[in-house]
Amino acid sequence: MKNKYAIGAFNINNMEFVQGITDAANERQSPVILQASPSAINYAKIDYLIKMVEAAVETTDIPIALHLDHGLDFETCKNCVDSGFTSVMIDASKYPFEKNVEITKKVVDYAHSKSVVVEAELGTLAGVEDEVNVTEDNAKYTDPTQAYEFVQKTGCDSLAIAIGTSHGAYKFKGDAKLRFDILKNVKEKLPDTPIVLHGASSVIPKLVEMCNNNGGDILGAKGVPDDILRKAGQEGVTKINVDTDLRLAMTGEIRRIFNSEPSVFDPRKYLGPS
Ligand code: G3H
Ligand code: 13P
Ligand code: ZN
Repeated sequence: MKNKYAIGAFNINNMEFVQGITDAANERQSPVILQASPSAINYAKIDYLIKMVEAAVETTDIPIALHLDHGLDFETCKNCVDSGFTSVMIDASKYPFEKNVEITKKVVDYAHSKSVVVEAELGTLAGVEDEVNVTEDNAKYTDPTQAYEFVQKTGCDSLAIAIGTSHGAYKFKGDAKLRFDILKNVKEKLPDTPIVLHGASSVIPKLVEMCNNNGGDILGAKGVPDDILRKAGQEGVTKINVDTDLRLAMTGEIRRIFNSEPSVFDPRKYLGPS
């Protein structure tokens, strides 16, 4: 926050994601947040994820946090705190303000008693969230005054806000635009609270093309361009969440290999490069 840059928080689902992300972060000597959604935990199993992240910590020399992404209830957050996550997100943003405060505060009280930090969310992102589907019409930007009250009442350590991004590969129909006026207003009210930007994949055109050129059907995909992400980092966003770009990278390369080398059937030959 002091140096006005954001830390990347990347979603992990399997060993290749953990290795790819931490190798890249290690190469750049950048601290990194590895995050797992409830459906990733359901897929890979919590013990596997934790052991893989422990291996990443042991084999690199960068600071690595293990974070729960979009925990939807107290039990999920508690389970991750008890299992050794260093940080959890409680996403009760689909509820009315007071209920969001109540659920978030319960998680904060428990997590803080175990020295674990908590990210919360206020406002609703357009698009598809983990098990929450919100149409673009219902997208609700974060109200800066409410954001201040929310942080005071819950004691959360960082706050995810809605300023125009959405999850997935289809973020904007026209030009990519974020409400930097809202971010500025939130930061004026909460200068000491790290702000989190969800739905921050840039939906790298080269990767979309790689998918589409090899039998994929990802048309009209659009993300948040790098210069906008950099500006967000300079103006108060401290954590930038990326999942979609990793999915596109993995799928694009697998598709390319399947297409160009049809005789390959050793999973290491396509999972490794992907
Ligand atoms: O924000 C949502 C993340 O992209 C996680 O998605 O629930 O499909 O793992 P997932
Ligand atoms: P993307 O879909 O833009 O990668 O967003 C990921 C995210 O916000 C995870 O919480
Ligand atoms: Zn998210």
